[in-house]
Amino acid sequence: MKPFANEPVLELRRAPVRGRLEEALREHDAKPPLNVPVWIGEDRREGGELVSTDPGNPERVVATAAKATEADVDAALAAAQRGSKAWAATPARERAEILLRAAQWLRERRLEAAALAVRECAKPWPEADADVCEAIDFLEYYARGALDIAQGAPLLQVPGEKNTLEYSARGVVAVISPWNFPIAIPLGMVSAGLATGNAVVLKPAEQSPGCALLLFRALREAGVPPDAVSLLPGEGDAGAALVRDPRVHTIAFTGSGAVGLEIVREAAQVREGQKHLKRVIAEMGGKNCVIVDSDADLDEVVPALVTSAFLYAGQKCSAAARVLVHEAIHDGLLERLAGAVEVLDVGQAERLGIDVPPVIEREAQERVARFTAEAERTGRVAARAAEVPDGGWFATPAVVADLPPESAVLAEEVFGPLLAVERVRDVEEACDRVDASPYALTGGLFARNPDTVDYVVDRTPVGNLYVNRSITGAMVGRQPFGGNRLSGTGTKAGGPGYLLQFVEPRVVTENTMRHGLVV
Ligand SMILES: NC(=O)c1ccc[n+]([C@@H]2O[C@H](COP(=O)([O-])OP(=O)(O)OC[C@H]3O[C@@H](n4cnc5c(N)ncnc54)[C@H](O)[C@@H]3O)[C@@H](O)[C@H]2O)c1
Repeated sequence: MKPFANEPVLELRRAPVRGRLEEALREHDAKPPLNVPVWIGEDRREGGELVSTDPGNPERVVATAAKATEADVDAALAAAQRGSKAWAATPARERAEILLRAAQWLRERRLEAAALAVRECAKPWPEADADVCEAIDFLEYYARGALDIAQGAPLLQVPGEKNTLEYSARGVVAVISPWNFPIAIPLGMVSAGLATGNAVVLKPAEQSPGCALLLFRALREAGVPPDAVSLLPGEGDAGAALVRDPRVHTIAFTGSGAVGLEIVREAAQVREGQKHLKRVIAEMGGKNCVIVDSDADLDEVVPALVTSAFLYAGQKCSAAARVLVHEAIHDGLLERLAGAVEVLDVGQAERLGIDVPPVIEREAQERVARFTAEAERTGRVAARAAEVPDGGWFATPAVVADLPPESAVLAEEVFGPLLAVERVRDVEEACDRVDASPYALTGGLFARNPDTVDYVVDRTPVGNLYVNRSITGAMVGRQPFGGNRLSGTGTKAGGPGYLLQFVEPRVVTENTMRHGLVV
C-alpha cells in the first residue's frame, strides 16, 4: 500500500475544470430528487417523510427520505449484532481493501458528489470539492491506520514471560453526524468504525440524507457486507434511540454541544442486559477566537479573518467567531475588516467566485439575525454585507464590535456569518479571555514575535491552534482535528490516535518457563 497522501483538490482556476463542474450540476439537476431509504441489511424501506431542499432555493427538492422509526433502529441494531462477528473476523487487510475500493468509487464520482453537496447543503464549489476529498482521505487514512492497529503494540519482554497486546473491535458503533460536512464527517466516523472491525449504524443529519445515501452506496458497492453497515435517515429521535440501546458499544457523534452533552449523559446509563460501558466520541461546537497582536501584518490578517469567519457562511465548526485585537491596532483592523465585509459577494453556492452562500435553513437565518440584533442593541454593527439576495436562506454577513463582556454574542456559538471584534490591552489579556471560555475547538494567532507565538502556544487550551494563517481547512494526516473542554472529548479525527477509540485492548501474559513436555 502506498503511503497516505491527501487527495488533491480540483484546480478551479482552470476553465475546463470549471466547465466539468457546471456539467455535473446540469446532470444533477436533470435527474429527479434522490429517494433515500432506510437501508438495513438487504432491506430497503422507502418513504417520503423527510424532505431535503436546496438552501438557496427552498422550492427545489434535492432528496426525499424515509424517516427511521424505533422499529427501524431495533432492526438495524439486530443486523449490526449479527454482522459484527463476521466483520470483526475478516482480516484487517481485507477490510482495508474494501475501504480503499470505496475511496476509488467516490473518486470516480467526485463531481457528482460535489454537485450534490452544492445543492443539498449550499456548499460553494471549492468547499464541496474539499468535502469529497476529505471523505476520500478518511477512507485511505483509516484503512492504513487499521493495519497498524492489527499489529497490536509492542510491550516490554523479560525472560520466561511473553506479553502481547492486541486490539479487538468493540462491537456496534452508532454514528450520528451533522450536515455541514455532509460527506466527509459521516464517512470519516463510519470508516473508522468499519476499518477497526465494528459493525456500524449511520444516522445522518436530517438536512443531508441525499449525501448520506451517496457515501453509503460507496461503502456497500465497494463490498462492505450488508449486516456490517446500515443507514437510518431520520431526525434526532432516531439518534436518541440508538444512544439509549444497550446493544450499542460506541457512539461516534459530531454536532452541537447541547446534543453532545445529552448523549454523554444518556450513554452513561447502564441498561438491563448491558455488559459494557458505552464509549462516546463527541466532537462538538466552539466559539473560536483569533488573537491579533500589535505587530501583526494587517495585509495578511484581514483576508485570513474574512476566510476564517465567512467561508461557507461561518458554518464550519472551526470558523472564527471572535477576534481579540491589541488596542494599538484595533481601530485600524476594524475599519479594514468592515471594508472587506461590506463588499462580500453573497450569492448562490453554485456560482463560482461567491464569498458567502446561504445558510442551511430558515432557523439558521433567524438565529444569525437574532444575534446580530442583540449585538446592535448592546454594542454596534461595524459593517454588513451591502447586498444580500432574497429567495434562499441568506443571512447577512456582519462584523460587530464594542460588546459588553457578558454578551451572549461573545459566548454562544452562532454558526453563521457573524464576527465579533474585541479590544484587548495585550496578548496576555487575550489569552485570559480565551481561557475563560468553556469551548476550546480552534483558535488563531497573528504575531511576528516568536516569543509571543511561544507564549500563546503554551497558554492555549484549544484543540487546533493556527498561527499566522486562516483557522479553517484542517487536512487529514496533517492537522488531526478536534476540540477540548466542552468542544469535544479530545478526539483527533484524521490523526494517529483516532482509531484507538473504536477498539478494546487485550493483554495476554504467558509464563514460558514450562516444565517438561506435553505428550
Ligand atoms: N467539532 C467538530 O469537529 C464539528 C464538526 C462539524 C460540526 N460541528 C458542530 O455541529 C453543529 C452543527 O451541526 P448540526 O446542526 O447538525 O448539529 P445537531 O447537534 O443539531 O445535530 C447533529 C446530529 O445529532 C442528531 N440529534 C439531534 N438530537 C439528538 C439526540 N437527542 N440524540 C441523538 N442524536 C440527536 C441530529 O439528528 C444530527 O444527526 C455545530 O455546533 C458545529 O460546531 C462540530
